[in-house]
Amino acid sequence: MSKNAFSLDGKVIVITGAAGGIGMEVCRQLGGDGAKLIMADIDEVGLAAGKAELAARGVSAVTFKANSSVEADVIALFKFVAKEFGMADILINNAAAGTHTPPQDTTLEIWDTVIGTSLTGYFLNAREFSKLVIAAKKPGAIVNISSIAGSSAIGRGNFAYSVAKGGVNQMTRELAIEWAKSKIRVNAIQPCSVNTPGWRKWVETEGEKAKPLMELLVRGIPMGRVAEPEDIAHAVHFLASDAAAMVTGTILPVDGGNLAYNAGGTLGDY
Ligand SMILES: NC(=O)c1ccc[n+]([C@@H]2O[C@H](COP(=O)([O-])OP(=O)(O)OC[C@H]3O[C@@H](n4cnc5c(N)ncnc54)[C@H](O)[C@@H]3O)[C@@H](O)[C@H]2O)c1
Repeated sequence: MSKNAFSLDGKVIVITGAAGGIGMEVCRQLGGDGAKLIMADIDEVGLAAGKAELAARGVSAVTFKANSSVEADVIALFKFVAKEFGMADILINNAAAGTHTPPQDTTLEIWDTVIGTSLTGYFLNAREFSKLVIAAKKPGAIVNISSIAGSSAIGRGNFAYSVAKGGVNQMTRELAIEWAKSKIRVNAIQPCSVNTPGWRKWVETEGEKAKPLMELLVRGIPMGRVAEPEDIAHAVHFLASDAAAMVTGTILPVDGGNLAYNAGGTLGDY
């Protein structure tokens, strides 16, 4: 273990959905700590922009176009990682697809897209990552970006997304047990709303309801604000590092107290 157990210096880290939002912030922070990054995404333009931004900060990263929900892409991604780096130390499963479709209107196509990226994609990346780690006989860590939607119901057409995130939580526990003997730790993070470009765009689509929607979201968060991408990246940093050597199978809310807060609770007098 390095002197600073939180250090990721020299670690080989694969990040899915790395081209934007939380994934890109994770790259900034982990790359800034000396990690070697493999940025995977379907968005080639975003990948190139992300890589250029990191290069300007002195962080070297390689990019790979891969759709997390396509098995052949994920296999190709980890073959590339094996060829370039020999092995990988850490996987950040982050790429996800959402929907705002009521259950009764959810077509099989919508269901398959959401579950395919947000659940099957996590499995495929974890499976291919585990093969590299097990073959290298070195410890590994997986951090799955879940959501508070994986543990509580949101409504507003989040049905398929919530089901996927609930699956991610249970996948986290099962894989933590399955792979403990191979020294692969598997943990998940459950963010509340995070102030990413994608999230802001969704709030804007609500038009006149955007302001009351924001007020509603913040009212549910005892810390009084939505999360910033940095808040999530800090938790990823910890769980990915040797400082979390005894942490596995954990589903960590990074939600300002949202999941802890009962809908009938108050933050002071009522
Ligand atoms: N932003 C939030 O409010 C919030 C809240 C809770 C959980 N999360 C979770 O955090 C993670 C990141 O969210 P974000 O807000 O940064 O998302 P985002 O939409 O800003 O970025 C997601 C990235 O994933 C990529 N992507 C989408 N589908 C892909 C696929 N099939 N294969 C590969 N890449 C793909 C996109 O191109 C994009 O770069 C997701 O797992 C999301 O569910 C986000």
